[in-house]
This record gives sequence, structure tokens and C-alpha cells, in this order.
Amino acid sequence: MIDILRHSGELLVRARRVVVFTGAGISAESGIATFRDAQDGLWMGVNPSTVASQNGFSEDPGLVWRWYMHRLADITRVEPNPGHIAIVDLFALVRRAVGHSFTLVTQNIDDLHERAGSPQVLHLHGSLARFRCNRCRSIHHLQDMDRSASLPPSCLLCGEFVRPDVVWFGETLPGQTFAEATAAARRCDLMLVVGTSGLVYPANELPFIAHASGATVIDVNPEPTEFSRVARVYLQGRAGTVLPALLEETRLLTENPQT
Ligand code: OAD
Repeated sequence: MIDILRHSGELLVRARRVVVFTGAGISAESGIATFRDAQDGLWMGVNPSTVASQNGFSEDPGLVWRWYMHRLADITRVEPNPGHIAIVDLFALVRRAVGHSFTLVTQNIDDLHERAGSPQVLHLHGSLARFRCNRCRSIHHLQDMDRSASLPPSCLLCGEFVRPDVVWFGETLPGQTFAEATAAARRCDLMLVVGTSGLVYPANELPFIAHASGATVIDVNPEPTEFSRVARVYLQGRAGTVLPALLEETRLLTENPQT
């Protein structure tokens, strides 16, 4: 493992433009169930692909609201883990040492990257920190939400229900954010993929776009994924262990370039 960590560190130090692309796996060690885990019934016995949809909301807005408030409570009570923190430190290290540009793209709707200290995060699937009207799209703020209500609040402008500002199944990704993420994937020379199964389109295209544009792809995951085919390096293991180890190898390389 040390050898491939060292090799990955060398690739990182040599790269000029780095994208880190994360999925639910990075938050797993903080105690947030991944989507695949959740389908086994961990979140209130509800299948996310049924409830996280416009149909689910129309059929039972109260259920969808309570499900998201339950997720929000889970997210609020947990902390960023060593994987989130290693990404912040990796950004700082390579920016200081070799002047890289770094882009962090996540599929997660939690705010654990931000709470770890990542200043700019492209949230492809939106964020549970924001809410919007289901009709007029006016923005509503987390602090105004009654988290124990059994129904979503109504929009003050048009009276329609308010919903989380997240991407549901069948909906398109936020255009500007996806365009920025795609552009970063196209021009990066290294993409570090962490904790995503690669099953959800179109976010799962990003590693393939990076690879097709000539970038090196490194995949960090306890299980092989859809990206195994294009990943030059597969770092098998949990993000909270692998990323701090990768950070340490990279630190040694930047401090002693000859070793
Ligand atoms: P998934 O739940 O599909 O996959 C989680 C991945 O994390 C799996 O490949 C696990 O092997 C891996 N994993 C688990 N524990 C890990 C750990 N400690 N360290 C690193 N990896 C670990 O989650 P995503 O790929 O993020 O979409 O799913 C993408 C999208 O599917 C989500 O954003 C969501 C969902 O449906 C929407 O909500 C639109």
C-alpha cells in the first residue's frame, strides 16, 4: 500500500490542476448512511429513490418533508471526519508547495466539506442548507424552517409548499454548477474520486470526461467501482484512512522532493 500511496502522492505533486470528486462514501465515517446503505432501509424504512422525487412529494409532502428533516438532524449532529479534513489539508499543501489549482465537486447534500474548512464546494445535487418554493422557486432559509412540523411550510409569495433545494430523481442538475464541474473535469490533469459508486447519471460522467481528456484518475473506495476501468490507481480502503495517509506521503514528497 505504501508504494501505491507514494506513487499517488507523486502524481498529485506533478499535477497542475486537480479535481476531487466525492460521493456519499466520504461522509460514511461521520455516521451518514450512504445511498446504497439507505436502500436497505436505514433511513426511516424509506427507499430514497421513491421518496426523493417530485412524484413522492406530490403524493405525500409530509412524508418527504419529515424524511429530509430526519436527514438534516442526522447531518447536524455529526462532524466532518479525517477524510474531509485531509482534503482541506491536501489542497493547502499542494497549493503552497506547487501552486496547483484545486476544484472540489461533491454529490453530497450535507455540509461536511464546508464544516471541515473547504472554502468552495460545487454541490452537484444541491444542499440541505437551502430550501425553495416548489412552484415559484423563491429561496427560503434553513433558520426559518420548523424542523418538527409534520408538513412543509408554505411559500409566502405563492402559497405552494417549500421543498429542499436538492436534486431529485428525474430532475436536472443545477446548470451553472454542472457546467463548472464539467469544465474542471475537462481541464484537470488529475481527478481524485472518493467514495462514490458511480451509479448516478450524469454526475458519474465526470471521471470519464477527465480520463478522456487525458487526466489521471485515482479511485478511493473500499469496493471496486464503475471507475475501475479508467482509474490508473485504485486505493482500496476507507476515505478516513486512505486520504490522511495520502496526505502524509504527499507532504513527505513536497518536503523532500528527492526521496
Ligand atoms: P452511493 O451510496 O451510491 O455509493 C457510496 C460509495 O461509497 C460506495 O461505492 C461505497 O463502497 C463507498 N464507501 C462506503 N464507505 C466508504 C468509506 N468509508 N470511504 C470511502 N468510500 C466508501 O453514493 P454516491 O455514489 O454518492 O443522488 O451516490 C450518488 C448519488 O446517488 C447521490 O448523490 C444521490 C444518490 O441517489 C441524488 O440524490 C440525486
